[in-house]
Amino acid sequence: MEIILDVTDLHIEFHDHDQPEVAVEDFDLMLGRGEIVGIVGESGSGKSMSALAIAGLLNRKSLTKSGRIMFNGTDLLTCDRNILRSYQGDEISIIFQEPMTSLNPVKRIGWQVEESLFIHHPEISKAVRKEMAIKTLYSVGLSDAEKVYRMYPHELSGGMRQRVMIAAAMIGNPKILIADEPTTALDVTVQAQIVELLKKLNRERKTSIIFISHDLSLVSQLCERVIVMQKGNIVESGKTKKVFKRPGNIYTKRLIAAIPKIELR
Ligand SMILES: Nc1ncnc2c1ncn2[C@@H]1O[C@H](COP(=O)(O)OP(=O)(O)OP(=O)(O)O)[C@@H](O)[C@H]1O
Ligand SMILES: [Mg+2]
Repeated sequence: MEIILDVTDLHIEFHDHDQPEVAVEDFDLMLGRGEIVGIVGESGSGKSMSALAIAGLLNRKSLTKSGRIMFNGTDLLTCDRNILRSYQGDEISIIFQEPMTSLNPVKRIGWQVEESLFIHHPEISKAVRKEMAIKTLYSVGLSDAEKVYRMYPHELSGGMRQRVMIAAAMIGNPKILIADEPTTALDVTVQAQIVELLKKLNRERKTSIIFISHDLSLVSQLCERVIVMQKGNIVESGKTKKVFKRPGNIYTKRLIAAIPKIELR
């Protein structure tokens, strides 16, 4: 399998207080093209920090990062900011839990979906941009794409908003989509629909996906491979089926024991 992302020894530390606080330690991740990898672990285990680092969104002064995040022959941790920006939202996209806070309430959906094209591909004309946005909205299951294009975020349901976020993330046809608890704020039916949508995008476009969730049942439905984190460290990783059926680590066992058996396939 072609490896498109190779993270080694990622270490993230905060320096807001007297003592440095380690958020992520020795994080490794090799992501193949078209692969879907899950990251699970209790709250505060470092899932989001690892994801944000890969997305190039950890730029605070009070924070140190080390290790390597190799993408396209470039180390995203040390590369020029302009190179990093050229990837962000285009080659590597990220979506979050609450689409309402990620969407701008006073801008129409069309504008938000097109934004990354506007930034990364200014050569594309306005008309073509619109055409691409409507096509992408349609491809994420918003069948009334032309209408949605003209709407504002508050006019949509939570599930539709998350689809809009996915459209905005997918319009540049990224190689990697990072989804940080994308379904947590949604009801069970809509959660399942979003997971189906991610599967479809992965199948049709070969997009690699990093899926972060507390929902081990969704992870087992979507992810071929899973990483289990605890207190900033990876405590276990491997094929999802194997890890969830025969966890080798006591912490993973406890995570699994906390959910009803029937939900794990
Ligand atoms: N500004 C900060 N200063 C110090 N430590 C921080 C700061 N922000 C986050 N952390 C620490 O980084 C660690 C990892 O946090 P992270 O957000 O990655 O957890 P998570 O696994 O995504 O949790 P959740 O499941 O709740 O989203 C936590 O221990 C947290 O306390
Ligand atoms: Mg998080």
